[in-house]
Amino acid sequence: MDVFNKATTNLGPIGQYAKSIHGYWSFPKLEGEISTRMKFRGKEKLVWSLNNYLGLANHPEVRKADAEAAAQYGLALPMGARMMSGQTDLHEQLENELAAFVRKEAAYLLNYGYQGMVSIIEAMVDRHDVIVYDSESHACIIDGVRLHFGKRFVYPHNNIENLRKQLERATRITKETGGGILVITEGVFGMSGDLGKLDEIVALKKEFNFRLLVDDAHGVGTMGPTGAGTGEYLGVQDGIDIYFGTFAKAFASIGGFVASTKDVINYLAYNMRSQIFAKSLPMPLVVGGLKRLELIRNHPEYREKLWTISNALQKGLRERGFNIGNTQSPVTPVFLNGGPSEGANLAFDLRENFNIFCSVVAYPVVPKGVIIIRIIPTAVHTLDDVEYTLDAFTTIKQNLDSGKYSSGQFVNINQ
Ligand SMILES: Cc1ncc(COP(=O)(O)O)c(C=O)c1O
Repeated sequence: MDVFNKATTNLGPIGQYAKSIHGYWSFPKLEGEISTRMKFRGKEKLVWSLNNYLGLANHPEVRKADAEAAAQYGLALPMGARMMSGQTDLHEQLENELAAFVRKEAAYLLNYGYQGMVSIIEAMVDRHDVIVYDSESHACIIDGVRLHFGKRFVYPHNNIENLRKQLERATRITKETGGGILVITEGVFGMSGDLGKLDEIVALKKEFNFRLLVDDAHGVGTMGPTGAGTGEYLGVQDGIDIYFGTFAKAFASIGGFVASTKDVINYLAYNMRSQIFAKSLPMPLVVGGLKRLELIRNHPEYREKLWTISNALQKGLRERGFNIGNTQSPVTPVFLNGGPSEGANLAFDLRENFNIFCSVVAYPVVPKGVIIIRIIPTAVHTLDDVEYTLDAFTTIKQNLDSGKYSSGQFVNINQ
């Protein structure tokens, strides 16, 4: 058997649908400057699918800082991994400022959030330790857990009663092995927008001995009075032992960071394999990171605007009878109960006839028969954008209810 066979016979859970979705539902090309208006297949769309929460992607000061840093340093510097030849004052400065921002003793930069998270988990546990994690955790958490040689227990999403049971099991095991327990959850769950119950999880520390690692990719910059994230929003920032943030969303860049005690950060710097054996974050990303952090700290009005738009959108959708689940963050999912072709017709109508571009998630990413339209509000959207979108959703709901989307008229875009 040739290992290449699967490339033509078994394209994987999503890849098997590639012929009908590629270029439209998957791998769509959004063209032009990052903004609320971009071109898709040559036509301008109102875009609600970018995690540019605070509108920093195209902020003039950000663009200027990125361009000047690229001109001054190029993309090669520093040449090498942090430990070998990739350390600079500016990397350390950004780390110190990030640590202060999320109110932890120390922070360490990560080349990509994903690889960073995998290595944080791998480095923090050995075969004597037990991991307990939320069932809806991001793929990077799952990959980190996969590398763990010891026991791991999963609890159903945000089910604290079940988490308690898993902690009881984990405690019994660690009494025998002499290991510890690491609990992992997200701050803001990126698909559903609901929050990890960090306050309830932290309260469990009174009964159980464990450390808490929080992936706050969608929470950093967006949640809490100062943007320090979901822990700050829920009043339990100090109860988070290891805080993880990415630059891929509110920071509108690439890379990420981990923050914790000085000892833990020093330990991680010497033990995260994906960072030790990979090139350091290039200078423009570090200088650009400092500029973004400065803007996030000094302009709370960006976050306030994000929330004004998010609240107006979510209130309007709820009033119009849409099921948007339990979101408590800007992430706004619209759950549709129709069959898969109805969902696809509706999403297609929205994209082609109302020129609204949202991400659409269907089976096998979510259960059969469920379609999720995921809307990401940002600080650069306007209340007029919200009104237009709510009117469009009112019409598509009427169409859905009247059976207009039951026929196949909108599907098979690639045929
Ligand atoms: C919850 C969550 N964790 C981690 C990541 C990975 O971060 P990065 O894009 O920086 O690799 C993402 C996606 O960006 C995410 O949504």
